[in-house]
Amino acid sequence: MDRARAATPSEVDVSAPSVARMYDYYLGGKDNYEVDRQACAALSDAAPGTAALAINNRRFLIRAVRYLAREHGIRQFIDHGSGLPTQDNVHQVAQSVAPESRTIYIDNDPIVLAHGRALLQQDEASTVVQADVRDFGTIYSDPEVARMLDFSKPTAALFVSFLHCIPDADDPASLVEGVMDRLPKGSAVVMSHLASNDPEVRRQLTEMMLANTGGSWGRVRTPEEIEKFFGPLSVVEPGLVEISTWRPDGVEPERQTTREWIEYGGIAFKK
Ligand SMILES: C[S@@+](CC[C@H](N)C(=O)[O-])C[C@H]1O[C@@H](n2cnc3c(N)ncnc32)[C@H](O)[C@@H]1O
Repeated sequence: MDRARAATPSEVDVSAPSVARMYDYYLGGKDNYEVDRQACAALSDAAPGTAALAINNRRFLIRAVRYLAREHGIRQFIDHGSGLPTQDNVHQVAQSVAPESRTIYIDNDPIVLAHGRALLQQDEASTVVQADVRDFGTIYSDPEVARMLDFSKPTAALFVSFLHCIPDADDPASLVEGVMDRLPKGSAVVMSHLASNDPEVRRQLTEMMLANTGGSWGRVRTPEEIEKFFGPLSVVEPGLVEISTWRPDGVEPERQTTREWIEYGGIAFKK
């Protein structure tokens, strides 16, 4: 982990697309470059529903954080693979329910650290860490993180649109398990993950994302594979679903014109 080292613009590689900046583009953000927009255009040619899928995913994240803060009194959030700041970030949604809420953002893209720090300058209860989530043991032991979070209190571990970035070789299931082992009973996992039941869709879109990231990505998985990432945790209603249908809040979901891939997931608790 390297929280002390602020990202400088020269560290941001604009010669290749970045997942964080592509996602920012799909959400209508401005922190992206031509190379990211071209990668998004190619992806949207293959899967025209992708922009809507990103927006629906972000809405799921907002509903999930609000639900955990309001209905379960969760006051600590660790956002693994947080992405660039956008509207309604985790700390803002949580603090709108309970101002004392604390949030740790973790992402390995230097652009996230740069923009996250600017956003959080005035916020003593939230921080952003530039690190690889796979090093969560080191990250959680960092004095800044330990000062911010009380690991004896129920905490939400977010893996939202993130675990498909982790290859099978790095065992995403044990990553979730390892994180939940550190957190007490009453803690929750929030997960969404790119999914398809069609092997050809999984192959094609995985290949495109591997090409975009120079091989630094995982894969599109089946809903059954994603269910296994929840292990023994207790999934809340409505279960694991296409996330625009997870406890809708009356805000009309962005329509996916096609269903080449979906974000599949839900929330589960450690009992
Ligand atoms: C699609 S974005 C999701 C952003 C946010 N969680 C959301 O759903 O709105 C995935 C993020 O994970 C980050 N990421 C990918 N692999 C990572 C890793 N091994 N460690 C930390 N962050 C990672 C990317 O940089 C990107 O910002």
